[in-house]
Amino acid sequence: MQLCVPLPGIRGKPEGRRRWDASGFQVEDKQLVGIGTLGPVKRLLIVHHTTSPTLEAMYQAVRAGASTDEIEGVEIVSRPALAATAVDVLAADCYLLGTPVNIGYISGALKHFFDQIYYPCLEATAGRPYAAFLHGNNDASGAVRAIEAITTGLQWKRVRPPVVLTGEPGKAGLEECWELGATVAAELAG
Ligand SMILES: Cc1cc2nc3c(=O)[nH]c(=O)nc-3n(C[C@H](O)[C@H](O)[C@H](O)COP(=O)(O)O)c2cc1C
Repeated sequence: MQLCVPLPGIRGKPEGRRRWDASGFQVEDKQLVGIGTLGPVKRLLIVHHTTSPTLEAMYQAVRAGASTDEIEGVEIVSRPALAATAVDVLAADCYLLGTPVNIGYISGALKHFFDQIYYPCLEATAGRPYAAFLHGNNDASGAVRAIEAITTGLQWKRVRPPVVLTGEPGKAGLEECWELGATVAAELAG
């Protein structure tokens, strides 16, 4: 069951709607803006492990970029890595993965996500596009390699180099995150 509430129009556009799916997660669905004028909706799933204000800023920037009004026909679904399921992955067309670097690797939470979804999604999601954003204090190379190894196993297709930030993200870093979200969503929209 999905709940719908009207939202005020943004920048003079017609009203959009905010929805929550059965799990209570918010879904932003631009297809509901101007029904009948757009093609089929594609779904971009953001799976992220957000453990600090820095990571939250990066996640919000990625999500804002992916949700920009300029892109139509893409709905954004976000899941914390510890809550994301194989059903979420199967239902999406494209993935954005966010993680801190922990002890030279991706977070245990994102690893747990992959451990859970790997076999249930292996066949059905081969060839699907993905990109990633990571934050570490100094060296993210092990975590970048881990994401590459796991997604190679899944046969996901990397559509953008990962955004890797260290230390304070700053304006430029957050802009990189926004661009990542916007570019991946725009490519998905086609
Ligand atoms: C247990 C632990 C291990 C970490 N290991 C690494 C590491 O191997 N490489 C690195 O660059 N940063 C490492 N970090 C730093 C985290 O990546 C960083 O705290 C996280 O990205 C959030 O950034 P913030 O603390 O500046 O908000 C580690 C942090 C923790 C808590």
